[in-house]
Amino acid sequence: MQIDVFTLFPHWFDWFRTQRHVTNALAHGHGLEAIDPRATTPLKAGRVDDVPFGGGAGMVLRVDVVEAALRARYGVDPVELREQRRVIALTPGGRLLDDALADTLAGESAITLLCGRYEGFDQRVIDHFCTEELSIGRYVLAGGELAAMVVADTVLRKLPGSLGHADSAAEESFSPALEGGPEYPHYTRPAQWRGWPVPAVLLSGHHEQIRRWRLEQSRRRAGGPLP
Ligand code: 6GU
Repeated sequence: MQIDVFTLFPHWFDWFRTQRHVTNALAHGHGLEAIDPRATTPLKAGRVDDVPFGGGAGMVLRVDVVEAALRARYGVDPVELREQRRVIALTPGGRLLDDALADTLAGESAITLLCGRYEGFDQRVIDHFCTEELSIGRYVLAGGELAAMVVADTVLRKLPGSLGHADSAAEESFSPALEGGPEYPHYTRPAQWRGWPVPAVLLSGHHEQIRRWRLEQSRRRAGGPLP
């Protein structure tokens, strides 16, 4: 899978790339590339944004700048690009990311993430170049970069080979294996600490009982604070 992130701060992704599950995914042939629209802007002095028509605070990422960046990267009209791959604008008001959507995205061979800054994108970027808008929560970040990292993180860790253990992602919170519920509690050594014991079933060696206990715990948690 190839994830392309269009961002005015491509070097922010250098840190992101150092995480183990990301380096593993990259070693398995997957790709994560950060692309700077400033490098291909048709405007003078590296300009990428402009004041909003109608007035108001902040700056807006220009549609001609985003078009130039997408054309330079893919060699096609961005209006056609979105017929070929998911082109996702990261916006606070977009569709909320969840585990099921992360699964779907992990099944794509390539996705493009567009990070807005300032007041975001000219609406024509979203209307004509993008397949969808995605949000990581109902709060406002200063830009789409952290959201893009969240999307890339949850998608890349689903790819085979990115986690150390083959099935670490299969039976985790919100997975179908746990009926979409939160994960069961984990314990490790010491088995006793300050009189706080580890549940006896986990020390029993009865795999079927352990499996049932974990599912039961997950179900119990699902009845709690989750929506
Ligand atoms: Cl995707 N972008 C921004 N700027 N803020 C957000 C977000 C995205 N998701 C939640 N808040």
